[in-house]
Amino acid sequence: MIAQNSQKCFQLAKNHKTVKIPHPKIYILKLFIGKKMKRYTGLIENYRSRLPVSETTRIISLGEGNTPLIELHNIPRMIGKDIKIYVKFEGLNPTGSFKDRGMTLAVTKAVEAGSQAIICASTGNTSAAAAAYAVRAGIQAFVLIPEGKIALGKLAQTLMYGAKIIQINGNFDRGMALVKEVADLAPVTIVNSINPFRIEGQKTAAFEIVDELGFAPDFHCLPVGNAGNITAYWKGYDEYATDRVCGNRPAMCGYQAAGAAPFVEGAMIDNPETIATAIRIGHPQSWDLAWNAQKQSGGWFDKCSDEKILAAQKMLSQFEGVFCEPASAASLAGALNDIHTGKIPDGSTIVCTLTGNGIKDPEIAMMQCADSKPVTIEASLDAVKKAILDNF
Ligand SMILES: Cc1ncc(COP(=O)(O)O)c(C=O)c1O
Repeated sequence: MIAQNSQKCFQLAKNHKTVKIPHPKIYILKLFIGKKMKRYTGLIENYRSRLPVSETTRIISLGEGNTPLIELHNIPRMIGKDIKIYVKFEGLNPTGSFKDRGMTLAVTKAVEAGSQAIICASTGNTSAAAAAYAVRAGIQAFVLIPEGKIALGKLAQTLMYGAKIIQINGNFDRGMALVKEVADLAPVTIVNSINPFRIEGQKTAAFEIVDELGFAPDFHCLPVGNAGNITAYWKGYDEYATDRVCGNRPAMCGYQAAGAAPFVEGAMIDNPETIATAIRIGHPQSWDLAWNAQKQSGGWFDKCSDEKILAAQKMLSQFEGVFCEPASAASLAGALNDIHTGKIPDGSTIVCTLTGNGIKDPEIAMMQCADSKPVTIEASLDAVKKAILDNF
């Protein structure tokens, strides 16, 4: 018989003994499934056989990956199209962005190789992830960031994790060039996406999508900056399709901010500008690999204005309850445009990657909501009641 003790724990009377068990529903489910439900311990453990680690590798993990694939309900209805739109909400990784997927492996491999320090150039999210995984591993992180051009939340995170932050009066591209040069002169491992282990870790997002849906989407839409992520997703889908885990591969659709769109212009640009600071990049490091992903998959690159990016960010928050950072919303902004023109046809299934959490950029969020300030009232029941009734 199952009973609950005074500490609200469940107990089972068995052979004249009482044993502690989980909630009865879980206990019965386990009996039926016949095996223990495994605690999720991060993407390296989950996809070990597809990643370059051995039995003896010390895994540096914060439980990253396994992020929700959320089907949008309201936006497709509003646009009146018969299209299934899912968002892969990478903002729910431990440091709030997709960078954690690559960083767990990059730092794991750096430690395995005996490195005592890592370095990266960053528009904010890489610095936060590098800093967190370095702390976890017990090594030093150095991060180069463009002064005044990273979102407040990302700076706060990186400071809290205790990285050595080096601000430069230049943009991400200049920082990246400096990082590449200094890595030849100082004992540091680069953990930007030119580190192949970053791509290997990030490809697991494609595995998760296929594992969940049972197939690859028709179109995979994502924001493009340095172009590591589009490269990684394509690698993941391609690997699964080659091994016949799925029967199809998606068309990869990469969207850039209009003022920072080298793939759309067909050439590097020197002074990228956009409100979406995470993708304010003019010299993408994975240039050839991303072109390859686009061509092999039959996808395309396009650009979105800052206005469209901000509008998509607000739509996701206000109609779906999903709060991503501005750069992330470029995936939906681009997809909506291509749905509107018919380039993405009715009947399609698409996945948009939402690369980072909206909480990282509180300044943009406050600007987006400048017209909806909180009301201030007297602390009385009447005043609260009136505030409710006035706002129904
Ligand atoms: C939130 C966010 N979205 C998109 C990107 C672009 O990813 P990638 O540089 O891999 O193209 C970045 C890169 O920093 C990012 O931080």
